[in-house]
Amino acid sequence: MVKSLENTAKQILDSNYQEKGFTIPCKGLYPFQWKWDSGFIAIGYAHYDTDKAKSEIKTLLDAQWSNGFLPHIIFHNESDTYFPGPEFYQINLNPYATKKYKTTGLTQPPVTGFVLEKMYEIVEDKSDMLDFIKSIIDKVYLNHLYFYQNRDPKNEGLVYIYHNWESGTDNSPIWDEIWDTMDSPNYEFERRDTDHVDASQRPTNIEYNNYLYLVDIAKKCHYDDEKIAESSPFLVQDPLFNAMLIKSNEALINLYKIIGGNEDKIQQLEKWQNKSIKSFNDKLYDEELEAYIHYDMKNEKAIKLITSSSFTPLFAKIPSKQRAEKLINTLVTKFGKSDMYLCASFDPTSEKYNPKKYWRGPVWININWILYYGLHNYVYKELADRLKNDTFELIKKVGFFEYFDARKSEYTKNITGYGGANFSWSAALYIDLIKN
Ligand code: GLC
Repeated sequence: MVKSLENTAKQILDSNYQEKGFTIPCKGLYPFQWKWDSGFIAIGYAHYDTDKAKSEIKTLLDAQWSNGFLPHIIFHNESDTYFPGPEFYQINLNPYATKKYKTTGLTQPPVTGFVLEKMYEIVEDKSDMLDFIKSIIDKVYLNHLYFYQNRDPKNEGLVYIYHNWESGTDNSPIWDEIWDTMDSPNYEFERRDTDHVDASQRPTNIEYNNYLYLVDIAKKCHYDDEKIAESSPFLVQDPLFNAMLIKSNEALINLYKIIGGNEDKIQQLEKWQNKSIKSFNDKLYDEELEAYIHYDMKNEKAIKLITSSSFTPLFAKIPSKQRAEKLINTLVTKFGKSDMYLCASFDPTSEKYNPKKYWRGPVWININWILYYGLHNYVYKELADRLKNDTFELIKKVGFFEYFDARKSEYTKNITGYGGANFSWSAALYIDLIKN
């Protein structure tokens, strides 16, 4: 059974692989290359097809802008199954934008650094992988430099996102209060996502108006971060995003040490790292909720809601042992009841919890994967095992979907998974988890 699921996972990845050397997240729904998806996908490939793993990262980094920015979607090919496409983004407004590819002007969580370290750990032929890493690691460093120079206007060591699509947790209730402050125009557009997936599992049209309006504001600023920071109503320090940056800083330090030399870069990374971890703990931890939370920089207030992102700092070893204990207690008491699979994407005890809708409740495999390693960092082995087994059970029950209902009772009713089927990162991270 385990073997055949592993084979299915490999078949999914191989069939989502494209001739140009990258892998789409899912047919129809997501027909291009996505930044953080590519990272998770490369980890899956590293277990059985090193060439594809390298190619995944190479194609991503090839679309880097000259200021170090890495876009969240690379439109390698034409497709009319997705909206909004390249014509909406108009990245040529920005002088640093790549001329080689059509891309968006948004980014996604910076996973590439730790993905390279994972790839190095996984493969047998270390020297071959190290040669590859040597050939591209400076691009990842440049991406971190971009973040610290352009997305940290108060020099806190914490970077902001200016769009919910940058967070990776697109439709989280976290953004609701910000939507209330906005008066977005009514766009005329044709949604394509709801051609593929039941609308009850996707964002509403009103939410889509906000998403498009934020891109329009960025376009008015010619994608200049300083101007965006002044004029965008959406400016958030996100714990998941910053935890990925911190984890990737650490990975770059480790990899540069293995490569040798590069002292200046190691020193710079260590400086960023110390400052980021300190600010993260000072600013993004809420003593009352006993969890990490998002901070709304525009309205200068903490967003007091708990999401699965609240626990991802465990992955980057951000909390002290004592704080981790409290955080994990919050995870177990709010998200870990015995009738629930770990880990719902949003606080199941909140009235905003919606078990079917995108990032407003369902379980996502990439977050489970992050939390699994995070719990191991603090030697919570039993809970890590539960997380892994829950992940396996969901996949075994309904297949490699994009997201899953967390309520165990639902599975007696013959339900399927939600969102796209044959979803690449669910397959890739399953392959990594069973090898563990
Ligand atoms: C959805 C997810 C985002 C992911 C993308 C492609 O938009 O919210 O995190 O990168 O799909 O899979």
